[in-house]
Amino acid sequence: MCGIIAGVSSTPIAPYLLEGLERLEYRGYDSVGIAVAGGSHLVMRLRSTKRVKDLGRRVRDLDVPRLGTIGIGHTRWATHGEVSTRNAHPHNDCTGRLAIVHNGVIENAAELRELLVGLGHGFGSDVDSEVVAHLVEEARAGSSLLDAVREATDALVGSWALAVFDGTTDELVVASHQSPLVVAHSVHGHFAASDIGAIAPWVEDFQVLEDGDVVEINASPRWHRREGLPPEPELRARPPMHVQPSLVVHADYMSKEIEEQPEVAARIMTELGPRVADGELWRSLGLPDFARVTFLGCGTSLNAGRALGQLLTRNSGVPHQCIVASEVATASVEDKTLVMALSQSGETADVLRALSSNLLGSAPVLAVTNVGHSALGRRADAVVECSAGPEIGVAATKTYMAQLLTGTCIILSALVARGTLDPVRAAQLVGDLQRAPDLLAQAIGASRRAVPAIAEATSEAPGFLFLGRGAGWRFAEEGALKLTELTYRWAVSYPAGELKHGPLALVERGTPVVVVDDQARRLAVDISEVAARGGRVVRIGGPGSTIPALGNREATVLGIPWCGPFESVVAMQVLARELALTLGCDVDKPRNLAKSVTVH
Ligand code: M6R
Repeated sequence: MCGIIAGVSSTPIAPYLLEGLERLEYRGYDSVGIAVAGGSHLVMRLRSTKRVKDLGRRVRDLDVPRLGTIGIGHTRWATHGEVSTRNAHPHNDCTGRLAIVHNGVIENAAELRELLVGLGHGFGSDVDSEVVAHLVEEARAGSSLLDAVREATDALVGSWALAVFDGTTDELVVASHQSPLVVAHSVHGHFAASDIGAIAPWVEDFQVLEDGDVVEINASPRWHRREGLPPEPELRARPPMHVQPSLVVHADYMSKEIEEQPEVAARIMTELGPRVADGELWRSLGLPDFARVTFLGCGTSLNAGRALGQLLTRNSGVPHQCIVASEVATASVEDKTLVMALSQSGETADVLRALSSNLLGSAPVLAVTNVGHSALGRRADAVVECSAGPEIGVAATKTYMAQLLTGTCIILSALVARGTLDPVRAAQLVGDLQRAPDLLAQAIGASRRAVPAIAEATSEAPGFLFLGRGAGWRFAEEGALKLTELTYRWAVSYPAGELKHGPLALVERGTPVVVVDDQARRLAVDISEVAARGGRVVRIGGPGSTIPALGNREATVLGIPWCGPFESVVAMQVLARELALTLGCDVDKPRNLAKSVTVH
């Protein structure tokens, strides 16, 4: 989703902006732009609805050395206004000397626009963000840019990470409120970005803006903060840099990331496994004891939370609830609740907003994320990283598996530490979990063999049902989400016992019904009810099923009752990808979706 980079350097800033924007590409975007100080002190703006590389070509066609050493850049994921060049950031004020980029949502944009139009301002786009450029313009007379941005942000309702520069004075100011922004200084220059990853190669450490901060970016930055905060936030060490993985033998990132799941599982069990059965993993987090757990997340991360909640309560009796982060307003959190916030990116606005609301009370927050230095990691009281490695495909695959295994290790360890799980039993369960890489590898092989024919046979189907019972239902939910986001076909999941209470009405001859068949009690009856109506049953189960991804589960105590048939998810990932490819969809970048959902 939207990303920001801004900087001042002693050499032309455009190459830095373009490289930073390329590093933000993985988040997903539909237009891109930069504004730099031109040779004659004008703001030069270049915008495109194509890729960053296209913008780069256009910049190189200009005379780069003549471009200025100060500028801002942005990747946009449309929220207000269609995808078009005129709606791409940066936006200008009426004079053309100010340029701004913005992440977040200005909730009172319509009122502000009306007010500004009444004052004579002309707008060049449909986006909410443009009001900021005109508000700063209004406040600019006689004021420094820092003061003008302060005054402008006082009028805003909503969330913002902003970078504003004045091409006539070379002032660059950034501001943040409920949208992440960091600043960093080095021999290369002075930078700001919505994600430290964008500027990581040029800096050693960085500072994070708090809500309400407004900062002038230059050699001697001025930092304006809310009352009560120290004059400047602490310096944080730059996180290790990930090199964009190459595809090597894979056709797409999703294929690569599905294939990596056994390796990810092995890594997690090597890192966390030895600290589970003695409770050390939990104790090292320094969190208080809990009586119940609230799992918080969105999309696939929420599905991982739902599976974890089910295994927690079924196996230990510790109650749980799952909160859809965007629905936190309906949540009620009791005493002695632990909040486990799950997010692969750690930047999901709905999750961050839920945590900053008062609705979760003072419950301690444990972040389970693939990006420990993310905004979620910084907000949480403790963090456990999922160690899945960079995930490029928009559809979460290996990060889901990593959340599941990491969360299971944390839960087991916590139960030992609080005396509700015998360490010997915990050690047996960890022993079983060590089999996860093999189970996943077996599931990948079986799915790759069986799925292409199923994808071919179901390619005309307008929609899919996903069923399971108990833990299997939780995995079926993730299967349905994967299929929806990749194939643009509807897919709904139900506990199989609900069939007769409504969804059976959808089943007609040929309707594909995917069943996570872990031999749960009464599942065979559900399957025969579908088959009796001509539904095409796709059974993900043991030997002899349509996709024999579950292998022979009798040899392990892991599958039932602890984690459930988690490797069934692999089969559904492969099915979603295969069908999407059959339908000609882009499996790494499904339409309308972004990797990092930074607006709410
Ligand atoms: O980064 P997060 O895990 O917080 O993202 C949450 C969802 O946006 C994400 O899981 C989304 O549903 C995925 N694209 C699903 O594959």
